[in-house]
Amino acid sequence: MTIQVFQSLAELGKSAGAQIVAVIEGKPDPVIGLATGSSPIPVYQGWAAVAKERGIAMDHVVCFALDEYSGLETEHPESYHSVIARDATEVIGLNPSLVRVPCGLGDVAANALEYDEAIQAASGIDLQILGIGRNGHLGFNEPGSPFDSRTREIDLMPETIADNARFFDSITQVPTKAITQGLGTILEARELIVVATGEAKAPAVAAALKGPESVDLPGSVLRRHSNVTWYLDEAAASLL
Ligand code: F6R
Repeated sequence: MTIQVFQSLAELGKSAGAQIVAVIEGKPDPVIGLATGSSPIPVYQGWAAVAKERGIAMDHVVCFALDEYSGLETEHPESYHSVIARDATEVIGLNPSLVRVPCGLGDVAANALEYDEAIQAASGIDLQILGIGRNGHLGFNEPGSPFDSRTREIDLMPETIADNARFFDSITQVPTKAITQGLGTILEARELIVVATGEAKAPAVAAALKGPESVDLPGSVLRRHSNVTWYLDEAAASLL
């Protein structure tokens, strides 16, 4: 495991972007796992900047997002389909037809099974980008999620609903369920990068790195993976 601490989000994004571009350059058929939320935004900007500097097109990269709300129409501006299109696909110049986001509509259990199969059919994820929730969640794997869990529907915890209310007009509009890659699915990615910024994430980062390895701290499962790089700002690293 590597821990890197940066003084600016621009530097953090550039460094993570360089790691992602190196993976993409190393393979004819690269597969990258995307995350939503505030944390990966500098990474997507850094990835786009490094790709542009090196003159490398990104339209052949296959991508799988981590998660999506259940029951929220795909066209909703805060659906993760919309967020990934806006924050990642357009910024980086990915091919929209190669960017998959789990489907939280219809038969979600069947969609979840099919999603894991699609990742396997693509030969697995070469590098997965992760944020971490204040409660330590990865994707939407809330505390209590089994370390070997697969893509599935999950009930969101009150603190996650409260954290995500900033994206909606009111907290009552935040979906209460989501479909997420499981912790077992995430651990199968060959390389992981975890991005955490801001003081509010410091306890979750410290618990993931130094607390007991426990399903109550989903981030602690990352210690079971042999190739994880943490990208932190000074505030998120302040309790290490
Ligand atoms: C991302 C996701 C979540 C977020 C986490 C942090 O797809 O499902 O695990 O990474 O909640 O969110 P931000 O970055 O907004 O603080």
